[in-house]
Amino acid sequence: MSLFGGKWRNLFRAIRRALIPDLVWRKMKWLHFFARIEEKVDGPLTYNQDGLASTHNCDFIKDVHFSKAYAAGKATGSWGNSDVHWRAHVVCWAAKKGMALDGDFVECGVNKGGLASAVLHYTELYKTSRKLYLLDTYNGLVARYLTEDEKRRDSNADGYEECYDAVKRTFSDFPNVIIVKGAVPETLKEVNASKIAFLSIDMNCVEPEIAAAEYFWSRLSSGAVIVLDDYGWSGHILQKEAFDRFAVERGVQVLSLPTGQGVIIKP
Ligand SMILES: C[S@@+](CC[C@H](N)C(=O)[O-])C[C@H]1O[C@@H](n2cnc3c(N)ncnc32)[C@H](O)[C@@H]1O
Repeated sequence: MSLFGGKWRNLFRAIRRALIPDLVWRKMKWLHFFARIEEKVDGPLTYNQDGLASTHNCDFIKDVHFSKAYAAGKATGSWGNSDVHWRAHVVCWAAKKGMALDGDFVECGVNKGGLASAVLHYTELYKTSRKLYLLDTYNGLVARYLTEDEKRRDSNADGYEECYDAVKRTFSDFPNVIIVKGAVPETLKEVNASKIAFLSIDMNCVEPEIAAAEYFWSRLSSGAVIVLDDYGWSGHILQKEAFDRFAVERGVQVLSLPTGQGVIIKP
């Protein structure tokens, strides 16, 4: 809910920006009450979570099939106390689209398996012979693949705990889920799939993410979607820039979503 109309809000923002740069402002959490003055979305809000406030229709949340798949993802504990309905909706949509194409599914950056579990249940992939490959260290980011900037950013943001056993338990009833433990890019060769119909990339750092996209690109079926979880998130600009270059080199464009995700469709 905004406290002021557009004209005053814009004036407030202009003065504030003249005094305090955006980067500093975002870190000044104790001032967030005043930051509400800058909010642009005039209610009533239909959605307000996970960095996204909107008045748009999001009835997909009430869809029984989606809501069961989402609950399975949430139960893994991957998202802590947060909710990520719209991001899960995008990933489920992309995976469902993959069901009409040739190939297996891959996620690089799984954590406890939240999005992977939502995808598995939403698409009912377990009723097919397709495989879902899940690549992660299952204990956090890998220092040797981080730039100095990424190390600084993740020194306090990276709170991933060991979760390999938990992930094995979560997917133990699904023999077509292949859990690959280790550092990407080293583990990419363990994905034994000649065609890929869906690729989710969510490792919070540039080098392994670009390596995965490069490795799988030629095997992606035409029409397959790559979902880049971090593409538009603040603090992840290096990933955005790297994927913009990746896309230009291949004659495609990344669709930037208000969820913070990016989407590439393989021609
Ligand atoms: C944001 S989490 C993934 C969240 C997950 N997609 C979900 O549904 O909740 C990022 C994950 O990337 C993994 N990761 C980061 N760098 C990696 C690398 N080089 N190789 C393998 N996994 C990596 C971390 O261990 C972490 O689990």
